[in-house]
Amino acid sequence: MRAHPAGALHGDVAPLSQQVAPAPADLAELDPGIWPLETERRAGAVVLGGVDVRDLASQHGTPAYVLVEADVRARCRAYREAFGDDGDVYYAAKALLTRAVCTWMAEEGIGLDVSTGGELAVALAAGFPPERILMHGNNKSIDELRQAVQAGVGRIVLDSDMEIARLAHIADEAGVRQRVLVRVTVGVEAHTHEFIATAHEDQKFGFSLASGAALEAARRVLMLPSLELVGLHSHIGSQIFDTAGFDVAAHRVAGLLAAVRDTLGVTLPELDLGGGFGIAYVAGDDPVDPHSVAKQLRAIVQRECAAAQLPMPRLAVEPGRALVGPGGVTLYEVGTVKDVDGIRTYVSVDGGMSDNIRTALYDASYTVTLASRISEAAPMLTRVVGKHCESGDVIVRDAWLPSDIAPGDLLALAATGAYCRSMASNYNNVPRPPLIGVGAGTSRVLVRRETVDDLLALDES
Ligand code: LLP
Repeated sequence: MRAHPAGALHGDVAPLSQQVAPAPADLAELDPGIWPLETERRAGAVVLGGVDVRDLASQHGTPAYVLVEADVRARCRAYREAFGDDGDVYYAAKALLTRAVCTWMAEEGIGLDVSTGGELAVALAAGFPPERILMHGNNKSIDELRQAVQAGVGRIVLDSDMEIARLAHIADEAGVRQRVLVRVTVGVEAHTHEFIATAHEDQKFGFSLASGAALEAARRVLMLPSLELVGLHSHIGSQIFDTAGFDVAAHRVAGLLAAVRDTLGVTLPELDLGGGFGIAYVAGDDPVDPHSVAKQLRAIVQRECAAAQLPMPRLAVEPGRALVGPGGVTLYEVGTVKDVDGIRTYVSVDGGMSDNIRTALYDASYTVTLASRISEAAPMLTRVVGKHCESGDVIVRDAWLPSDIAPGDLLALAATGAYCRSMASNYNNVPRPPLIGVGAGTSRVLVRRETVDDLLALDES
């Protein structure tokens, strides 16, 4: 367990500006805790999945999102093993969704958590088995609920009274008994940025445990013949390192299983504890280990259930970032280097807040390295910024880079597999970068780069 600076998404590391300058050789090092599996330097250049970044840049252009398939698959296996055959791992598709990613997840025995009709459509287009899909969302439209029921999704997580009535009607019309879970707000203040904390009382998701709304929701669902209540769900937030929050949530939601049995006379077989497991973005970040978190959660639920004389429910989790985040790297080309006298040096790259909004939105921290060569030049403190017309267009607030950094150099930004491509925009009409899968020395376009024609295709005037 460790403390966090309020609001920051990274660990308790002193800002770079307060640290001593590293040695030139340190800048070239690739910390295996931060960079994907199959990352190394060969003749000075960074190689990802056996492919030199200079080749990636010349073949696919920059900026580009690169995803190391072996890294994603290894993390899927670690989560699957940790939660075992008596548990389920649903990948939270909002982190990054493409057909290839769906295929990898399906092959690795992972289920899929979708939260919109669009995510559901991509999953179905990839041939993902619908019974292994779980659908979330605090405002699923009637159409989205209908699509989910018609597709035969395994589970829908109910988020409001209105939705209970809507879904019951839709399932009834379709002649289906839909399996559902009730999302419970357990009242945990997760130690993460307020925009991505979700289990304190004053927010839009779920039914409050404390007010009795969650128990009341379970009671209503149990009365509806077209809905089959299979369990409870809790998700406390995202990019969490302090696993004490998961413990409290597991304890409270398992307690509610007992209350459901005692008041409503029903033993629910499933407990979904959501996602939110933190990953390392910068040195000092202490990622959540799937094996220890699985062991810990199982022990808490077991203890709670044994005390209430309940059978152990089937546990589920929904990691998003932890499966795809560390396997992703963004490649940028440096365009300009500007020394703002006496203040700092700005290194501008050919992307920015349109391909990575996380620094601007959450004050996120990232690790960046000069990727196309190594340099003996003394390190200097820089700010890596994008090309957008906004001074908040920052990618890395404080980064040590060699002082001979120059236009044409390639920079690699680590841990960008999650919530970068999926939150990308066309701000300033910048086409979104491609997603390139790498492995075994070859690269493959998973999602192609957008073009100006793509942008104009939607403009009907
Ligand atoms: N389950 C539910 C119900 C969720 O709402 C989320 C994330 C997850 C699972 C997966 O959380 P993960 O394991 O990826 O932390 N855009 C933000 C993150 C928002 C997460 C929203 N919900 C970011 O870039 O940090």
